[in-house]
Amino acid sequence: MSQVMLNVNNIEVIYDDVILVLKGLSLQVREGQVVALLGANGAGKTTTLKAISGLLKVEDGEVTGGAIEFMGDRIDKKEAEEIVRLGIFQVMEGRCVFENLTAYENLMRQP
Ligand SMILES: Nc1ncnc2c1ncn2[C@@H]1O[C@H](COP(=O)(O)OP(=O)(O)O)[C@@H](O)[C@H]1O
Ligand SMILES: [Mg+2]
Repeated sequence: MSQVMLNVNNIEVIYDDVILVLKGLSLQVREGQVVALLGANGAGKTTTLKAISGLLKVEDGEVTGGAIEFMGDRIDKKEAEEIVRLGIFQVMEGRCVFENLTAYENLMRQP
């Protein structure tokens, strides 16, 4: 089987020191894989992605348990700007797309 690139291992995420949103969440992404995260509104999909890309801090959220590894290195204590340089970034939801471009062209134009 191909190499595990991203390993989210048993993480816990808390907002504002008290609001427990993720508990015991694990997922792996192997080289060449496309992984979809499905769940009801409020289930914690965005929180999971923000934990991976280091964006929780701006919302007073924190990974308080478990570990996130990329290519074997811990990234859950790294700053977002370090993580983005490793090649992990988030394309935010919302209306920040160009209607007349294809999905691929839109992705290529994200900052
Ligand atoms: N900045 C935040 N502060 C406090 N609670 C939050 C914050 N962001 C999200 N939550 C809560 O975390 C839970 C998961 O939200 P979210 O990750 O946005 O879910 P999804 O993306 O699956 O809809 C929800 O109960 C939401 O209210
Ligand atoms: Mg969401």
